[in-house]
Amino acid sequence: MMREHYFTFGKFVSQVHLQKELPRADDIFQDNRASRSILISDIHTEAIARSIGQNYDIPHCVLPGGEAAKGWPAVERILAAAKAGGLGRDGLFIAVGGGVVSDLAAFAASIYMRGCKLCIVSTTLLGMVDAALGGKTGFDLFGIKNLAGTFYPAGHIYLSLDALTTLPRREWKSGMAELIKTALLEDGGEMEERLKVLGPAFEAGDLLLGHDGALFELVSASVRLKGRIVEADPEESGTERALLNLGHTFAHALESSAGFGTLSHGEAVAWGLVRSGELGHHMGITPLERAREIKDLVLSFGYEIATPHPKMGDWDVFLQALRGDKKQWAGKLRFVIPTAHGAQVVQDDLIEERLLYPLINGEYML
Ligand SMILES: NC(=O)c1ccc[n+]([C@@H]2O[C@H](COP(=O)([O-])OP(=O)(O)OC[C@H]3O[C@@H](n4cnc5c(N)ncnc54)[C@H](O)[C@@H]3O)[C@@H](O)[C@H]2O)c1
Repeated sequence: MMREHYFTFGKFVSQVHLQKELPRADDIFQDNRASRSILISDIHTEAIARSIGQNYDIPHCVLPGGEAAKGWPAVERILAAAKAGGLGRDGLFIAVGGGVVSDLAAFAASIYMRGCKLCIVSTTLLGMVDAALGGKTGFDLFGIKNLAGTFYPAGHIYLSLDALTTLPRREWKSGMAELIKTALLEDGGEMEERLKVLGPAFEAGDLLLGHDGALFELVSASVRLKGRIVEADPEESGTERALLNLGHTFAHALESSAGFGTLSHGEAVAWGLVRSGELGHHMGITPLERAREIKDLVLSFGYEIATPHPKMGDWDVFLQALRGDKKQWAGKLRFVIPTAHGAQVVQDDLIEERLLYPLINGEYML
């Protein structure tokens, strides 16, 4: 079980190694020629990083786990570890973890000596299908998520299904929503067909490790699709890459109004996907049958789809978060709306705020 994908993002090339087993340091050094290296993990991926680095004396920077650690102090710790390890410009940062570790390590790699070598061993489902690929790096600053960052794609990305054996269910659920999102962007519906089979098992508590063949194909298809979208728009200057935000405007507003951390990002994204279908239907873009298929798929994985969401807080906070996005796009609300075979970005006066109140209050539920 092994597959490789290659992508070109502007001047960068990323090679993705999708496999069952974790890579060994020997494999990593063969792929990434570097004089010195450091391992970067968090406390929950420390053991995985140690197993990768066994037999070698590689300096290891262990960060606290989770989003709370995604700030400048963590970046500084990585830079300090690199300096203490004597890494030069041809030094290699080996990030072992989920999106938090990979975003932090990739940012640090992008500025260490004006850019050193970087590889990512992704250990969460979300990391595998989203965060590890595409070159976005960053950390949270002044209370704003990913306020600071760079584009710096990793040269090699290792996605090993064995890393997921210790992943908690909540984290599986977070990544699964991104996998569903990517499936909805795929023209052809293969991913969606696979997901339809897996949904009920997942809802019943199965973490899909017993379905590794299907999981392998899903991660592979997701990587291929995200990679192609980013290749077309590496620095998000057009609307192509924005398609990856399907469901995310609603998700972000729900997370804000519920209070960050109340819901996992994936739970919010899943809810947002259903709302995008409903909004699209009422705008005459998403066929009714398609909006219902999206709702049924999300529901089959056991996500809460009711609206208003039981954890949703103040309506004004919700609307303000939507308007926060609006500020970014020349004063217009911008949503990604599902179509019969994918999605499109809608960013104009078609979306009026008067549409949103009944939508969120369940009047458009299908
Ligand atoms: N760069 C991008 O394009 C991109 C895309 C999407 C998300 N992100 C970022 O990714 C982050 C979220 O990523 P995430 O969901 O992977 O979160 P995460 O890295 O915080 O991991 C979630 C939790 O699982 C633990 N963990 C990780 N791997 C584990 C394993 N194998 N076994 C047991 N525990 C494990 C972590 O320590 C953490 O507590 C956010 O900060 C988000 O901004 C970046």
